[in-house]
Amino acid sequence: MRWRLAVLAGDGVGPEVMEASLDVLRATAERFGHDFSADVQDVGFAAYERSGNPLPEETLAACRSADAVLLGAVGDPRSEGVPVELRPEAALLALRKEMGCYANLRPVRLLPALASASPLRPEIVDGTDILIVRELAGGLYYSEPRGPVEDGRAAVDTMRYHQDEVGRIARVAFEAARERRKSVLSVDKANVLHSSRLWRRVVDEIAEEYPDVECNHMLVDRAAMELVLNPSSFDVMLTPNLFGDVLSDEAAAVVGSIGLLASASIGNGSSGIFEPVHGSAPDIAGTGTANPLGMILSAALLLRHVYSLDLESAAIESAVGQVLEDGLRTRDLIRGGEVAGAGVVGTADMGTAVAAAISNAGVEADA
Ligand code: IPM
Ligand code: MN
Repeated sequence: MRWRLAVLAGDGVGPEVMEASLDVLRATAERFGHDFSADVQDVGFAAYERSGNPLPEETLAACRSADAVLLGAVGDPRSEGVPVELRPEAALLALRKEMGCYANLRPVRLLPALASASPLRPEIVDGTDILIVRELAGGLYYSEPRGPVEDGRAAVDTMRYHQDEVGRIARVAFEAARERRKSVLSVDKANVLHSSRLWRRVVDEIAEEYPDVECNHMLVDRAAMELVLNPSSFDVMLTPNLFGDVLSDEAAAVVGSIGLLASASIGNGSSGIFEPVHGSAPDIAGTGTANPLGMILSAALLLRHVYSLDLESAAIESAVGQVLEDGLRTRDLIRGGEVAGAGVVGTADMGTAVAAAISNAGVEADA
């Protein structure tokens, strides 16, 4: 099979982690007899600097004609002086919208080798395996009116949800729960927000179509607390756009590092944008120390979602588990001075190790 990917490395550590994930995809393609083409395009501040547009037409066209998009990160402190609609983040939001990506799936799993990378005690974090299903095309990120008012003396954002937007993301969550432990926890702020009361009503309606899946609701403040008190109690967490953004960073820290988390931004078709949850991390950009595993695991999500290549996807995930078992760690995974086994490696070496684990597993399977 030929994979036709649009590759948007973006800003900050984006290019470094992207390089590592392309190494891993190459090794995967080779082992399983696929081949792939990468249509490399600019996005974010890098694109703005070159062309004055953080989401150039060619980039958008490449994303539309590819099977799917692999995206590194966007964001650069130098964009602070740039008009908001030309900032890197605006490009990402526009791309998600243009690609019809209304659901963002963020798996949060404690990898056994990383129990000690969590800031929480092992008995609390053990068994954590959450799927955050974040609404991605509406809510506070997109609703109108928005912007400065009263000559900049005040500013407005709007959290608006239509019942159809809530219904479609709720279905994604319930469908995913059927493949997991059959439990959805919907997060809202229904004690205060009108849009959350609508959210809760619609989720309850959709829940009736899924009698085999348990459905509960939790206020977002309480959910933030439960995530650190009792992370292993969650299965599928269904959230509006902003709450999912906030809770997913918290959940990432619970399982060790935001550098580990992958995400799939998808809509109705098989395409999508596959991007790590971490941002551009300008403080460490160019140092070769960023953790590429979130990016690498995003590529695994891509193979599974876009091409239904479960074996290939699982091979990447198990290679990641293996290099961690072998003791390899990027800097973000070291807590309290503890270094297991082989020790600290940089971005490129981590990518090379995962790629090698995939190739070697293939050699062993053939032997
Ligand atoms: C994320 C990021 C983005 C978001 C930013 C960069 C616009 O934080 O994917 O979580 O808020 O969605
Ligand atoms: Mn975020």
